[in-house]
Amino acid sequence: MDMTQPGILAEGTKLARYLEFSVASEVDIRSALQSLAANDNADKTVIGLGQSLLDMLGETVPGLTTLSAQTVNEIEVPSTPVALWCWLRGDDRGELFHRSRQLESTLAPGFSLDRAIDAFSYDENRDLSGYEDGTENPEGEDAIQAAIVQHQGAGLDGSSYVAVQQWLHDFDTFSAMSTKQQDDMIGRHVSDNEEFDEAPESAHVKRAAQESFEPEAFMLRRSMPWAEGMKAGLVFVAFGHSFGAFEAVLNRMLGNEDSISDALFTFTRPLSGAYLWCPPVKDGKLDLSAIGL
Ligand code: HEM
Repeated sequence: MDMTQPGILAEGTKLARYLEFSVASEVDIRSALQSLAANDNADKTVIGLGQSLLDMLGETVPGLTTLSAQTVNEIEVPSTPVALWCWLRGDDRGELFHRSRQLESTLAPGFSLDRAIDAFSYDENRDLSGYEDGTENPEGEDAIQAAIVQHQGAGLDGSSYVAVQQWLHDFDTFSAMSTKQQDDMIGRHVSDNEEFDEAPESAHVKRAAQESFEPEAFMLRRSMPWAEGMKAGLVFVAFGHSFGAFEAVLNRMLGNEDSISDALFTFTRPLSGAYLWCPPVKDGKLDLSAIGL
């Protein structure tokens, strides 16, 4: 997909940095976005734009909304909207730091950096709990079908919608569980990554089984562990051709359908949550024509 920001469909990356920007000067956002689009870093950085930013520009992108905050059975799903999100991919922390500074200066004075989260891959795509993450991700053409907008016209085709949540794990709670309790929570054996039928209905992979939804809820998960001091967890990142699949799965994880909440919530919780639209690319640069730029 040469119209898609390459990082979305690319293989995993060893290190990453997520940057969240807010609007600092409304009159300067157009020129900042134009400078961003002129940058030819599109192969290493995925850019997402939030609803609040499009509102300021007086533009809309079909299907882009704000994640709704929810509290269900004392489980809180926060909504922390972001104007502009960057996922910097790389394998050198120093280089990621300098690229962050470059982006900060490209986007000033329109945008200011609110938050940077450093992320990394653990072993072969494991969450810090030790479980492999991404096993049931669609691949090849299926990944494109799940994650990329098609047949909607120039400016939209090649784009993608991304849901981003920073999750904080409670490792004391996790390590107090037996391996059986942990496996029952995920619905896979940590030893061989095999799914097992006897897992309880609260098991994460039973809640999230993509084929069990109507319509099927396939999404492209590109999550990565994060750590800061002794706090750590997962930056959950899921790309879709809409937010439909993410919302359907989250809804079932929360127990909104059958009052059974996902066992994952016993040891981890989302601290943040944002929806963004990742524009397509044209000739290797961001194509912002859908929002009049
Ligand atoms: C800290 C939070 C989370 C952790 C640690 C986690 C971990 C995992 C693990 C270990 C698997 C099994 C292997 C795989 O297929 O990738 C999995 C599957 C999956 N997860 Fe999560 N997950 C988290 C949050 C979420 C959220 C918020 C969603 C969506 C709302 C989600 C959607 C899925 C889906 C769709 C699957 C594949 C299910 C299937 O079709 O078999 N996960 N997750």
